[in-house]
Amino acid sequence: MLSIETHQLTHRFPSGEIAVNQLNLQVPEGSVYGFLGPNGAGKTTTLRILLGLLKKQEGEVRILGKTMDRDRNYILSRIGSLIESPSLYLHLTAFENLKIYQLVYACKSSRMQEVLHQVGLGDVGSKKVEKFSLGMKQRLALAVALLHEPRLLILDEPSNGLDPNGMIELRELIRNLNQQHGITILVSSHILAEVEKIVTHVGVIHHGAFQFQGTVQELDAIRQKAGVKFEVSDALAAQKLLDNEQFILISPQTFELHQAQPEKIARANKILNDQNIHVYSVVPQTQDLESVFLHLTHA
Ligand SMILES: Nc1ncnc2c1ncn2[C@@H]1O[C@H](COP(=O)(O)OP(=O)(O)OP(=O)(O)O)[C@@H](O)[C@H]1O
Ligand SMILES: [Mg+2]
Repeated sequence: MLSIETHQLTHRFPSGEIAVNQLNLQVPEGSVYGFLGPNGAGKTTTLRILLGLLKKQEGEVRILGKTMDRDRNYILSRIGSLIESPSLYLHLTAFENLKIYQLVYACKSSRMQEVLHQVGLGDVGSKKVEKFSLGMKQRLALAVALLHEPRLLILDEPSNGLDPNGMIELRELIRNLNQQHGITILVSSHILAEVEKIVTHVGVIHHGAFQFQGTVQELDAIRQKAGVKFEVSDALAAQKLLDNEQFILISPQTFELHQAQPEKIARANKILNDQNIHVYSVVPQTQDLESVFLHLTHA
């Protein structure tokens, strides 16, 4: 079951620029979906269309099995969102800010303390928001987004401006909302390392189109295919000893092993050592998601 599904979603700005290009976004129910792409890739534009903040031009959008045209209220009452900077009243306390939204959403007043607690602001409800750090403001904005008990959260670069500690806390909060409360979360970022640890699914866009979409396991498989580079005393001799299918000779002193699992790398290393071929370095060609990402978006 998909919580969000778009079909050939396309958006052109009046300048003629195609910001979203035939996007088939698929966010499974219960997932934490990392929506990734460099600046200007089309993330915010896509999220704004999903939320009905920008009028859909071409393609289909289904959220929780329904469409905005027919079931706008149904959808909006089940989505919480954080797009761009949160609109909070700085001269009011956290609690007073929540009160405004509680009245707008017409939800139980007990929810206010619940959400403050959920985002870790349980003790500072009566503090003025102008005295909040940026991280605390983000948490409060998230508390607002959670007030009406959404099933789906859409967060646009929620870690913008947070320090490393704030990012770790935000990650924990996202993980908790997903695992403890069963909320499906679509979170955008242009920094992969930020979301790598919490996402179950990943979509990488560039110029408004998908470069990759799938599970983190599928992404890992791509990473392993990318290979490991060996620098050795005699690569030609090494070629005779190692598995041909995975072996790519680069130069007399270097070769690459493709689709290499850690055990295969260790085995290759041992074979070479046993045959007195010196191994000077073993370097993964794409060490992390960041390099896969760069590879995908600059292909
Ligand atoms: N209101 C607008 N009018 C014209 N063009 C726009 C508008 N908003 C965005 N664009 C263009 O559409 C493209 C996608 O922008 P978008 O804001 O969706 O990217 P993004 O992935 O969210 O980037 P960032 O990581 O910087 O937030 C960009 O080239 C941008 O210049
Ligand atoms: Mg953006």
